[in-house]
Amino acid sequence: MPWDPSQYLKFAAPRERPALDLLARVPSGNPGRVYDLGCGSGNTTRLLQQRWPRARITGVDSSAEMLQEARGVQAAGPTVRYPLEYVQADLATWMAGDPVDVIYSNAAFHWLGGHERLFPKLMRSLMAHGVLAVQMPRGHGSARIDALVEIAQDPRWKDRVAPHLFPEVAPPAVYHDWLVKESRGLDIWETEYLHVLSGDNAVAEWSRGSALGPVLGALNPDEAAAFYQAYSDKMQAAYPRRADGTTLLPFRRIFIVAVR
Ligand SMILES: C[S@@+](CC[C@H](N)C(=O)[O-])C[C@H]1O[C@@H](n2cnc3c(N)ncnc32)[C@H](O)[C@@H]1O
Repeated sequence: MPWDPSQYLKFAAPRERPALDLLARVPSGNPGRVYDLGCGSGNTTRLLQQRWPRARITGVDSSAEMLQEARGVQAAGPTVRYPLEYVQADLATWMAGDPVDVIYSNAAFHWLGGHERLFPKLMRSLMAHGVLAVQMPRGHGSARIDALVEIAQDPRWKDRVAPHLFPEVAPPAVYHDWLVKESRGLDIWETEYLHVLSGDNAVAEWSRGSALGPVLGALNPDEAAAFYQAYSDKMQAAYPRRADGTTLLPFRRIFIVAVR
């Protein structure tokens, strides 16, 4: 199974932090139509509903497993006007069918290339003063991602796992240049978090819920076990468990908030 919601949610708290930091920078207002692209298990979609209980909010994701998890938890309260909606679609071809106030996306677009074309297209689907808010990990150059790319070169599985590796995310200035013509306001920044993880083999387990999941899903069980073991050995060497039992994971992320 490429995406496993329970594995992803093992580290729900540190994964939520950048989602909140992104949301905090979206200009406040009273949006009517909001999309959460790459909504996964709906954690971020529910954050959007807490912020804008009167908005019609749709989560979009390609993973049936993640959407099933999302649909199983319907947040609601007395002030909520619409139930959350979830749609299965590929973000590479998804288009809003109606004028949009906010397009939000946390930790999803790094799975796709072609941002120079996709992001300006998303901007053009916004109403005037609408907001595109995107957060993506920028992990290339870290041991966490470089080990994954290196093990993926093994001829035993190279061809099968290649389509499940994500491309390198460009630096902030490049996104500035791709978006500046479409934006009346553009706020782009990077943060390197220090995620404090607990549990055995924490970094490999973290990755098994995200970057590593689709790769292992492309292999047979014996190959997946061999891949995971090789990756896990490298993670334990690069991110040793500390005396207090925690493992520290430095994690760089890019944030983009563009106002049309
Ligand atoms: C790391 S999860 C993030 C989920 C959620 N936004 C959050 O922050 O908790 C990434 C999600 O992106 C989705 N995804 C990846 N590539 C996609 C694509 N091409 N189209 C739609 N969804 C995609 C995956 O299915 C997964 O649910």
